[in-house]
Amino acid sequence: MIIKIGILGAGYMGHTHARAYKEIKDTEVVGIADINSDKAARLAKMYNAKSYSDPDKLIYREDVDVVDICLPTPLHHEYVMKAASNGKNILCEKPIALNLKQADAMINCAKNLKVKFMVAHTLRFWPEYVEAKQIVDKEILGKPLEISTTRLVGTPSWSENDWILNPEMSLGAALDLNIHDIDFATWILGKPKSIFARGLKSFRGAYDHIISVLDYERGSQAFVEAGWMFPQTFPFTTAFRVLCRRGCIDFNFKVPGTAERREKAESSFVIYKKTAPPRYGKIVKKDPYGEEIRYFIECVKDDREPTVVTPEQAKLALRITLAGLKSIEMGKVVKL
Ligand SMILES: NC(=O)c1ccc[n+]([C@@H]2O[C@H](COP(=O)([O-])OP(=O)(O)OC[C@H]3O[C@@H](n4cnc5c(N)ncnc54)[C@H](O)[C@@H]3O)[C@@H](O)[C@H]2O)c1
Repeated sequence: MIIKIGILGAGYMGHTHARAYKEIKDTEVVGIADINSDKAARLAKMYNAKSYSDPDKLIYREDVDVVDICLPTPLHHEYVMKAASNGKNILCEKPIALNLKQADAMINCAKNLKVKFMVAHTLRFWPEYVEAKQIVDKEILGKPLEISTTRLVGTPSWSENDWILNPEMSLGAALDLNIHDIDFATWILGKPKSIFARGLKSFRGAYDHIISVLDYERGSQAFVEAGWMFPQTFPFTTAFRVLCRRGCIDFNFKVPGTAERREKAESSFVIYKKTAPPRYGKIVKKDPYGEEIRYFIECVKDDREPTVVTPEQAKLALRITLAGLKSIEMGKVVKL
C-alpha cells in the first residue's frame, strides 16, 4: 500500500520532509502547496509532484492520506483543523501552535474525527537523544538528577518574509528552539513543578536567547539554554548532559549551517560511569527527520496511534515554554 503525501509549505522544513520521504518505502509525495507558487513548483518538480498555490486544494484531494504541515507556526491551527475535517492523517511541524487554546482545539478535533495526529518533536527521534532516553529508562546509570541542554544557532535567514523573526508570528526563539529541549527534558524527567527563566530581547522585540531552570517532582532539575542571536557564521550547536546517580551522558554536536548537514558535524557521545572507563558511543548519522517521518508513516499503515510523541505531550512542551516566557516577564518562578 502506497501512502500518498501532501506537503504544505515549500520552505526549509518542506524541503527537509520531502527529502526524507524519498528514503521511506511505500510513500509518494503527490502534491506540494505554498502560497509562493514558484517555491511550490520548484520543490514539486524535484519530487515529481503536483504544485499548488492554495493549500486547501491539496487538502481536498481525495487520494491524499497524509497532510504534512510545514507552514509557519501561526498557520498550524488552521491547517490541522482543515486537514482533520477532511479525514486526513496529519504530521505537523513543532510547535503544535502559538497558544494552548489552539492546541486544545487541534487535539480535540483530531481525536473526534479519529485521524492520526503527530507533532514533529524531532529530538524524540534523534539517535543520541533516543539512546539517552533508553539509558535512563533502563536505569543503567541510576536515577537522573540533572539535565542541561544547549541549542545555539546563527540568526535564521531563510524564512519567508522573515516570519520567524517576527515576535508576533513566532514568539521568537522560545517556541522555535527552546521548546525542543524543554520537550527533551520533560521526556526524560517528567512534568516539571516550576520554571524560572531569563531572556535577552533582540531588537525585533522577541526573547531570542533564553536560559531556564526547571524543577521536577523527584528533586531533579534541568537547565535549558537556547538562542539565535549569534552571527550567521555561528555553527548549529546542540548539546546535552544527563547527570545520573551513577554516571553521566554527554553529547555535543556542532555543524556549520543547519542541522541536516549531519555528515559535516563535529560530535561526540560519551557515557561516563563511576565504575568503568568512559565509553565513547558511536555517532549515528541517521537523519532524525527521516526517523520521525518513517515512524509516523508506520503508525498510519498499521492503524495505531503514535505514542513516541503524543499531541498532549506537544501541548505540555508548549505550556512549559509559554510559562518560561511568563517567568521572564514577571521575573519570578512560575508554577506548572
Ligand atoms: N523540527 C525542526 O527542527 C524545525 C526546524 C525549523 C523549523 N521548524 C518549524 O517548521 C515550520 C516551518 O518553518 P520553516 O523554517 O520551514 O519556514 P519557511 O519560511 O522556510 O517555510 C514556510 C513556507 O510556508 C509558506 N507559506 C506561508 N504562508 C502560507 C500560506 N498561507 N499558505 C501556503 N504557504 C504558505 C512560505 O511561503 C514558506 O515557503 C515552523 O512551524 C517551524 O517552527 C521545525
